Amino acid sequence: MTKISSTPTVFSLPNSKWIKDFRQKLLAWYAEHARTLPWRGTTDPYEVWISEIMLQQTTTATVEGYYCRFLKRFPNPQMLAEADNSEVLRYWEGLGYYRRAVQLHRAAQIIVSEHHGQFPSTYDKILALPGIGRYTAGAISSIAYHQRMPILEANTIRLHSRLLAYPDDPTKSYGNKLLWQMAEIVLPEQDNNAQNNGNNKQNTQYSVFNQALMDLGSMVCVPKSPDCPNCPVVKLCQAAQKGLQDMIPALKKEQEFEERSEAALVIEKNGKYLMMRYPEGVRWAGLWDFPRHVVLSEQPLNYDTDFCLAIQQMTGYKVTILSPLTTIRHSVTRFKITLNVYVAEVLENYGKSEYKIQWVKEKDLIKLALNTTGRKITKLLDTDQRSHQKTLKLF
Ligand code: ADE
Repeated sequence: MTKISSTPTVFSLPNSKWIKDFRQKLLAWYAEHARTLPWRGTTDPYEVWISEIMLQQTTTATVEGYYCRFLKRFPNPQMLAEADNSEVLRYWEGLGYYRRAVQLHRAAQIIVSEHHGQFPSTYDKILALPGIGRYTAGAISSIAYHQRMPILEANTIRLHSRLLAYPDDPTKSYGNKLLWQMAEIVLPEQDNNAQNNGNNKQNTQYSVFNQALMDLGSMVCVPKSPDCPNCPVVKLCQAAQKGLQDMIPALKKEQEFEERSEAALVIEKNGKYLMMRYPEGVRWAGLWDFPRHVVLSEQPLNYDTDFCLAIQQMTGYKVTILSPLTTIRHSVTRFKITLNVYVAEVLENYGKSEYKIQWVKEKDLIKLALNTTGRKITKLLDTDQRSHQKTLKLF
């Protein structure tokens, strides 16, 4: 295997001939291969913003299922600002990284209170909104406002790293600075004639160019086995020319996972289920769930275990576990979680709960914003009832 040398003190960026050639080849390729995505037809800053927040750390395939539904319910900053936070979370359910929805909601309220309901149009004001970093501000400025602003996200980090054959971690300070410079110099030059020529014809070249970069990164310059034979810029790519495309970008240190055991309780009383809401500052803040906590010991899960005492503190109910229902394995950040779900019953109500709680009818669980495992458990309740009904019919 070829060993890659580490970053030289100065890493040179491409010259103007290379850049001109790159722009031409990229745009010619994009004219034929651009993906059709629901947010591609719009230059409305609010809509672009929603798409870009959803696309942070989430694939286009997943976002496609959420984007239109969200905009139909919250078509402008006012409607979003006025909505209840729990409803916003309900529309976000399943997309993950729920902090994004909380910040989106807060930002909509700022747009209404400080910008008269109009999405701000300058880069600095956009960047000042909650949940918006350099990438998202660049994407909104270039796509919605036709400004010459660079972008750098997962696809373009990979693409530029390979174009430059940058051998080290591209997210570390030197690499990050270098790639932002690269993202800026490849952008087409300002074309004053095309800018806004008086007949409302907008210059979309920066929007097109930035999205072309992302499409090339996600369709051709993919993480594993990039499709170099079909890449329009393979001859300009230093990694491909040196046969280093599979080694660049440098892999991040493998994430170390920690195994963890948690338990959730399905507690039913008079046809209603006990649900709790995660407070600010904890995992899944704002979302609802079946009472759930970490299980630290192997001891039987009865009412005097640490687990049941923790549930008591959170919900105000002393409970005891009756029977196992299911086991769900899933990951959250660095934790690999085994979630054992039990049917439990209430022994006593102490009244005081740390978390917000409510008793919810099964048919109303659909209206609550739940975390993914909570939603999975509700589906089990459904199946349980259906199989129960089947049994009843049999007799
Ligand atoms: N990833 C983030 N923003 C994107 C966009 N506008 N198009 C495609 N992929 C993206």
